[in-house]
Amino acid sequence: MEDNRFISFQFISEPTDVNFGGKVHGGQVMKWIDQTAYACASHYASNYCVTVYVGGIRFYRPIAIGAIVKVNAKVIYTGRTSIHIAVDVYSREVREGEFSNVIVFVSVDENGSPIPVRPLPLETEEERELANYAKRLIDLRKSIDEEMSRFL
Ligand SMILES: CC(C)(COP(=O)(O)OP(=O)(O)OC[C@H]1O[C@@H](n2cnc3c(N)ncnc32)[C@H](O)[C@@H]1OP(=O)(O)O)[C@@H](O)C(=O)NCCC(=O)NCCS
Repeated sequence: MEDNRFISFQFISEPTDVNFGGKVHGGQVMKWIDQTAYACASHYASNYCVTVYVGGIRFYRPIAIGAIVKVNAKVIYTGRTSIHIAVDVYSREVREGEFSNVIVFVSVDENGSPIPVRPLPLETEEERELANYAKRLIDLRKSIDEEMSRFL
């Protein structure tokens, strides 16, 4: 059976991706994350999806211009209409994760209203651990939302 929960993009960072320090611009990296996660979510859902939440991005190392960049995206949890994607970005020179984050998409119909996604099967221990991680992030986001709403 095709594993449609995982997608990987590889490409070379270009001179147009540069920031003022001569490395890849952070906004460009965020765009790669969103594009790869979108491809992963819509492939999994077989449907159009929109980003509902991006958070917790940690930049560990700068990415050089001309580096081979790899972006891995994997569905780790599904709610009723949401698809939670873990994204890792690597560049060839350092051979370690530049950063990881979880981005959440919602499967929507032609009017932009959320529609159900098929539940993610959790078969291995690693899959169950990742799903539990996504659920802990849901709880954390609720506390952050509550905290922020006190000032809105
Ligand atoms: C995403 C969108 C369709 C959700 O519509 P909505 O009426 O708020 O729908 P709901 O409240 O039913 O939430 C839908 C899902 O989003 C999830 N969600 C809502 N807020 C969230 C947040 N802050 N973090 C994570 N997930 C969130 C809900 O938990 C729900 O998932 P579930 O069904 O698996 O439980 C709507 O907010 C929207 O169109 N947003 C703009 C999207 C956009 O323009 N993205 C950027 C370009 S792609």
